[in-house]
Order: sequence, then structure tokens, then C-alpha cells
Amino acid sequence: MGWRKSKQIAAEAARNDVHKEEPGPAVADVQAKPLLVVEGVERTFQAGGQPLHVLKGIDMELKPRRLVMLRGRSGSGKTTLLNMIGGLDQPSKGHIFFNDLPFHAMSDDQRTKVRRKDMGFIFQAFALMPLLSAYENVELSLRMAGVPGAEWKPRVEHCLELVGLAKRMHHRPFELSGGEQQRVAIAKAIAHRPSLLLADEPTAELDSQMAAQIMSVFQTIIRTEQVTICMTTHDPTILEVADHVYEMVDGKFI
Ligand SMILES: Nc1ncnc2c1ncn2[C@@H]1O[C@H](COP(=O)(O)OP(=O)(O)O)[C@@H](O)[C@H]1O
Ligand SMILES: [Mg+2]
Repeated sequence: MGWRKSKQIAAEAARNDVHKEEPGPAVADVQAKPLLVVEGVERTFQAGGQPLHVLKGIDMELKPRRLVMLRGRSGSGKTTLLNMIGGLDQPSKGHIFFNDLPFHAMSDDQRTKVRRKDMGFIFQAFALMPLLSAYENVELSLRMAGVPGAEWKPRVEHCLELVGLAKRMHHRPFELSGGEQQRVAIAKAIAHRPSLLLADEPTAELDSQMAAQIMSVFQTIIRTEQVTICMTTHDPTILEVADHVYEMVDGKFI
């Protein structure tokens, strides 16, 4: 607990210090209303007739334009929580507010609408369509989000440039490295301008150099696309670039 708290205080102090003469943006950011609030969330599954308590009372918040990480062993409940934040699953108990919308009380259809419009997802295995080029993969997500056709080309090109793949636009996934495929997946996830990007172990299948590139892309898109990122990881070097780390042990934060 101590090191995280002190790191956070140091980071906020540094931000305030930089903007001492002109307190506008830094102060506004520190005071910003959270994009997502999780309150007392529990999740219980019925496994073989026995209740399995996977999340045991989670409180957290995501402020706009932050890179927040969930760290914890396999089985600690990270994916379960991420699914709940993304509206893919609902808590057994507790509240989740996304942009003031009560996800815990909304129907599947209502949550799906919000998710399609305002969220992007990235998974460990890159989830690209194998027969489509990088360009076509990103375009597909705009098509599915109902973005007008006239906007596709500039937006697809912009997103692929952001992730450093302008020169690989017409390659198919099998012609790209793992790191490049993951960068296409990022372009695809942000193309429809979501406010929240959720990433479940996005660097787990990558070597450390490629993982560092992914983190640098994340930092770029937080700045340029105004997105908030919540990701899971257990890589200590990656945790260093987080604005905040929530450490999960057995369904609880420590
Ligand atoms: N739909 C489900 N039904 C029953 N048990 C589940 C279900 N989803 C997850 N679990 C269990 O919840 C625990 C936490 O899983 P998970 O959230 O995937 O952990 P992590 O992502 O941290 O590895 C595991 O013991 C897993 O087996
Ligand atoms: Mg997981």
C-alpha cells in the first residue's frame, strides 16, 4: 500500500509543480470526475452446486486520461472484474457506474449499446480477422460501430499511423509480427473513439521490447485520443508506467 500511495503523491506533486504558474490543466485533471466508479462489487459463480466467491468487495475508480493497471496472480479475479467494467457481466452485489450510467441495473442490450459506442477491447491474443489486411480490420470496426462510410478512410489511416503502422496498412495479420498485430488490434479498438479502453493482458504474448512499444502506444493514445486505459498485467517493468496500480489478491484489492 505504502509505495503506491507515495508514488501517487509524488506523481501528483510533480504534475502540480510543472504547472505551478498556470494551474489550469493539472488541477482540472486531479479534480476530474471519474469516468468509471466501482463500489462494493462482488461476483459469485455457481460451480458444481457450490458458490464460488470470485470478487469479494471491490472499490475503484478510473479518472479520465489515466493508465490504470490491475495486477494479480492467475485466478485472482482480474478478468472477471474487467468483464464487469466492460458491461459484459454484472455484479452479484454492488454498483458500477460508467459515465453516471448504472451498469449494475441495466439490461444486457442497454449495456451493449453503451459498450459499442464508448468502449474498446484488447485481448491477449490479438483477435484480428486473418483474411483481412490491417486496414480492413480497422475499417471493419468502424463499419460495425455505424460510423458513416465517408469517415472511414481518414480515420483508419489516422489510427494506423498512431500505432506506427502506416507502412504496414495492407499487410495481413500473418505477415506481421506479434507486436505489430497487437498494434493493429489497438488501432481497431480505438477507431470509433471510445472513452474507455480495456485490455486484458495485452502484452502477455510479447517479448519485452514489443511490450514496451505497446505501452508507448498506450501513452500516446491517452494524450492524443483522450482515452482512459484499464489493463491487467503481472509484468513488473510494465507496471512502472502506470498512473495507478490496483493489486488484486484472491478477489480483493490489497
Ligand atoms: N463463468 C465462471 N464460472 C465459474 N467460475 C468462474 C467463471 N469465470 C471465472 N471463474 C473463476 O473465477 C476465478 C477468477 O478468474 P479470472 O477472473 O479469470 O482470474 P484472472 O483473470 O485473474 O486470472 C477463477 O477461479 C475462475 O475459475
Ligand atoms: Mg485473466
